Amino acid sequence: MSRTSRTTMRRSRMALIAAGALVAAAAGSAAAAAPFGSSAAAAAGCTVDYKIQNQWNGGLTAAVSVTNTGAAVSAWQLEWSFTGSEKISQGWNAAVSQSGAAVTAKNLSYNGALATGASASFGFNATGNGNSAVPATFKLNGVTCNGDTTGPTDPPDPTDPPAGDRADNPYQGAEVYVNPEWSANAAAEAGGSRIADQPTGVWLDRIAAIEGANGGMGLRDHLDEALTQKGSGELVVQLVIYNLPGRDCAALASNGELGPTEIGRYKSEYIDPIAAILADEKYAGLRIVTTVEIDSLPNLVTNAGGRPTATPACDVMKANGNYVKGVGYALNKLGDAPNVYNYIDAGHHGWIGWDDNFGASADIFHEAATAEGATVNDVQGFITNTANYSALKEENFAIDDAVNGTSVRQSKWVDWNRYTDELSFAQAFRNELVSVGFNSGIGMLIDTSRNGWGGANRPSGPGASTSVDTYVDGGRYDRRIHLGNWCNQSGAGLGERPQAAPEAGIDAYVWMKPPGESDGSSKEIPNDEGKGFDRMCDPTYTGNARNNNNMSGALGDAPVSGKWFSAQFQELMKNAYPAL
Ligand code: GLC
Repeated sequence: MSRTSRTTMRRSRMALIAAGALVAAAAGSAAAAAPFGSSAAAAAGCTVDYKIQNQWNGGLTAAVSVTNTGAAVSAWQLEWSFTGSEKISQGWNAAVSQSGAAVTAKNLSYNGALATGASASFGFNATGNGNSAVPATFKLNGVTCNGDTTGPTDPPDPTDPPAGDRADNPYQGAEVYVNPEWSANAAAEAGGSRIADQPTGVWLDRIAAIEGANGGMGLRDHLDEALTQKGSGELVVQLVIYNLPGRDCAALASNGELGPTEIGRYKSEYIDPIAAILADEKYAGLRIVTTVEIDSLPNLVTNAGGRPTATPACDVMKANGNYVKGVGYALNKLGDAPNVYNYIDAGHHGWIGWDDNFGASADIFHEAATAEGATVNDVQGFITNTANYSALKEENFAIDDAVNGTSVRQSKWVDWNRYTDELSFAQAFRNELVSVGFNSGIGMLIDTSRNGWGGANRPSGPGASTSVDTYVDGGRYDRRIHLGNWCNQSGAGLGERPQAAPEAGIDAYVWMKPPGESDGSSKEIPNDEGKGFDRMCDPTYTGNARNNNNMSGALGDAPVSGKWFSAQFQELMKNAYPAL
């Protein structure tokens, strides 16, 4: 599954937007942080005028005016994300707070009421490095103020449903499907009933999974069960579309059934039948989230084309274009159903967070999203950290920290990455994706199934300030040996429980990888699924270029990827954070 690639430092591509840009109006569904199933706040609409009045090397002053174009509200909060290292130092006429790049401005006692058409103005000072840009997106009371996308616009796809049919955030105000098969495995474990009712992803990892592999539930079985779980409310079903030709080109553990050239079979035997089922009127009331092709496009960026980490298999997939075509085809066909919400897999911060990979990944996602008839309107958002272990929030060190004048970016762990954790990466990458042409209303999902890193070894504060390495290594929650380790990680725990709209720009925390299912076997095990033996799953392996030749950190005695791994499930529960 998700892997990394080290790279050298280089400037990231940056979308600079003229100061004072007017962000135009739009309305969507509400998106205040809430557990699944809680009722949505009143919908609104908004325009934002955000002016950088003054900017110097070290800081900036900005004036913001927000106009409520929706129903009257008695209190407001405006959210955006900074694109660089800005830090709020002072606000006026609003309570302005910041977490990572995400900023929230809340009304004060005297300016909370906003009638339709009324405006509120506030301002702030922030520290910065002189290149602050106007944020791409704002949300008023959880609703995106749409309109100004800065990237190229794409021609409409005549088979797409009309814009506005989909919820801004499908998770808002909805329950999420509990997969009975996973739930039974979890419930059969000692202590497993504590989480057996959590929603997890349904992986369509081979053609046979559509009808039900080895007597298991097929896609229609899941959707029929989902209708039962739905009742009269809203329900999200989470599917993982995962069967590209030449799948998993930089590793062996999740290789699939289709050879590198079998794009025809991918289309006609895999995507077309899935699309036909999803388009069935019977399922029109379900919100179907599809996460599209884990790990594939990032591999084309970091593990092909002359990179030191390139593999022959990824070079083949880059040259034949079948990952890009396959993803484009899937987005286009699946996106024809108005109740399908496509989220493209976007790796994780320990993979895409380096400058060399960040803009290049956004570009290739846009290329795929406009291939084979797809358009950016087929893309609801992106998912990060699928089946990976990257910590959600590292609170004991920040990317702008320095020790004795040396940046934490120079520590062995961070290694020039631009991000220290998944949340700051996902929020910044969302802005980058908008800047290359994706819709400004896109949202991110973060897989928090196994990134909890709780238990006895969780640091309670920053590491010693002896060097950047003692500081980072002593304070980091992520206890992996190396950020590039990805298989059945020892010491990992369950992360945040699935929930809707937890942070600005994030549609949901999800458990897309079902906890307890193996990432790969720790020794060769014959199977009929095309799964290989990857030594990154062998605890005795000393590594490769993609994890800078470190030990794998994998648990021993693991079964083939996707198979139940009781010892791992128990360890994930033991190290859960938040604790169970
Ligand atoms: C791995 C496996 C796949 C499985 C999934 C979820 O990617 O290759 O077969 O369904 O994990 O556990």
